[in-house]
Amino acid sequence: MDFAGVQRRLEHLRREIGRHDYQYYVLNEPLIPDAEYDRLLRELEGLEADYPELVTPDSPTQRVGGSPAEGFDEVNHAVPMLSLGNAFSDEELAEFDRRARDRTGSDQPLVYLAEPKLDGLAVSLRYEQGLLLRAATRGDGSRGEDVTRNVRTIAAIPLRLLGTGWPEVLEVRGEVFMPRRGFEAFNRQARERGEKPFANPRNAAAGSLRQLDPRITAQRPLAFYAYGLGEVSTADLPDTQSGRMAWIKGWGLPVSPELAVVTGVAGCLGYYRRMGERRDGLDYDIDGVVYKLDSIAQQEQLGFVSRAPRWALAHKFPAQEELTRLLAVEFQVGRTGALTPVARLEPVFVGGVTVSNATLHNMDEVERKDVRIGDTVIVRRAGDVIPEVVRSLPERRPADAQPILLPAHCPVCGSDIVRPEGEAAARCSGGLWCGAQRKEAIKHFASRRAMDIDGLGDKLVEQLVEQGLIQNPADLYTLTLEQLASLERMAERSASNLLAALDASKATTLERFLFALGIREVGEATARALARSFGDLEPLMAADESRLQQTPDVGPVVAAHVHAFFRQPHNREVIGQLRDADIRWKPLEVVSPAVSPLAGKTFVLTGTLSHPRDEIKDRLLALGAKVAGSVSKKTDYLVAGADAGSKLTKAGELDIPVLDEEGLNRLLEGLSP
Ligand code: IVH
Repeated sequence: MDFAGVQRRLEHLRREIGRHDYQYYVLNEPLIPDAEYDRLLRELEGLEADYPELVTPDSPTQRVGGSPAEGFDEVNHAVPMLSLGNAFSDEELAEFDRRARDRTGSDQPLVYLAEPKLDGLAVSLRYEQGLLLRAATRGDGSRGEDVTRNVRTIAAIPLRLLGTGWPEVLEVRGEVFMPRRGFEAFNRQARERGEKPFANPRNAAAGSLRQLDPRITAQRPLAFYAYGLGEVSTADLPDTQSGRMAWIKGWGLPVSPELAVVTGVAGCLGYYRRMGERRDGLDYDIDGVVYKLDSIAQQEQLGFVSRAPRWALAHKFPAQEELTRLLAVEFQVGRTGALTPVARLEPVFVGGVTVSNATLHNMDEVERKDVRIGDTVIVRRAGDVIPEVVRSLPERRPADAQPILLPAHCPVCGSDIVRPEGEAAARCSGGLWCGAQRKEAIKHFASRRAMDIDGLGDKLVEQLVEQGLIQNPADLYTLTLEQLASLERMAERSASNLLAALDASKATTLERFLFALGIREVGEATARALARSFGDLEPLMAADESRLQQTPDVGPVVAAHVHAFFRQPHNREVIGQLRDADIRWKPLEVVSPAVSPLAGKTFVLTGTLSHPRDEIKDRLLALGAKVAGSVSKKTDYLVAGADAGSKLTKAGELDIPVLDEEGLNRLLEGLSP
């Protein structure tokens, strides 16, 4: 780069960083992940180091934080609130330690206090005569915002110090943060109220602390750990960092339980690895660890460089969020038929591994995150959790970005995709055929409450599918003794028992068969209702959605799934094969709901009846009647058994006809009660 090029680059970087500072510090709405911001800042620092004559007083390297938001008073920090130098590698840590040893002239390994680097925001708490007098944010390091009224709402922060004999003035510095559990609960509630959730716990903590109304802050689950001192009006202080932390704790201030005194680079690295492994199990976010020389004498020897101490270092973990480009979206079909959009990404190093695929969860999320093919997106990989696309950066969207469209047909089997209104998941409707759903479909088909094929458990189904012996439920009935006996761990006796069980399963009922098909949303009760409403399979397969909805308890979503299922040629083919294999049932007599005199009538059952209530209820439902739990003006009949109580009284008051069991039976038989 020539000199003019360097100048242009410097200006560009400063403008960009300034813009992102404003987004982050003032608006609490960062546009880019921290790792990207760090890179911009490091590039600027590097260039300025090479061209010191080009450093300007307004460069972001010449100050530490942002400017105070409107609405809060300013607070001067008598002892400035410092920032920390960063290390991103073991070598940078070793370099830091080497310089510290040089400057202290120590030939012994240095002793450090190691602690988690909490991902929240720094505050300074000022106690006078033991009382919390003022709390301030860091701001630019010398002037912050007065957030006393908000900080007083944080339960972890004492309003009065413990014990007696405190120094006249005690300033404690530490981090306010939002524990993950509280963050998740808070976001859940925000979504339920239709409000915008926070992107991460740090933003949530910052947003909560900077509320102008402290009553809102009070409802936010904030926490605090102290990590240092500001102004203190006594010289009588412990002479180590660890001793001072214990001293602070003695006054009743929370200190992280993770502090550890370690020796040399090896001790630091051991701590770094341990915390790295524990990172995802903690109830709060940390983005690295901090090492501080434990000896205060050594700290004083080393002093400061610009606004950061030379005696402390933040050792960062690999970023869990990164930017990359979305190249394409493919749809994966899960074992229950749900379609998951999967983003194909330009490979990016995030969370310690190279990621080229990430989940987009479902189409609702695609819309909510406003992601398009060609977009620059934020990818997150935290711990062992599968990587996900967090959102896009619409400001970087290319003109030719393409919307992500739900396919009309299953990428595995070609069946129609259905997504009933109001459902997040889109699904393949080819349940009996689809290769992705094969194992689950057959397991369900064989299960006890479905076709009840004795001896055909989940493990065996998996084996049969993996060996290529069966591809759909109908193939079960073509299995031979030799095929079964050839399977691992299958004796000839059990093979012939299984064949007998398969044979026995052929005589079934329509409702079991319908349940066995594994149609989405069709459980046993719905299968029974459909069987009673249609009597046989053919009229059900021919029914349109509005006819399906005349079945008791079948609404638009169930009707859409049933209709789509029977429309798939592949499903019909498998059903044909099953019938050819002699699966049979007795057709039921149906009373068409439209002509039944009970259609639409509402019954309430009370008292002791001679048949189980569910049985009576099912018969009524099959005739198109409704059964309600309490008597109202809308009730058509109260069926009262022995010892009927308040419902009978109420029916009397409302002039509602009351039937005894005999009257009910006459009605059910189509006679007048
Ligand atoms: S010490 C003497 N210790 O990191 C240096 N800072 O990058 C003052 N932070 O503003 C900071 N955990 O908000 C220190 N255990 C820890 C920390 C910590 C998080 C934050 C703090 C500070 C920033 C500096």
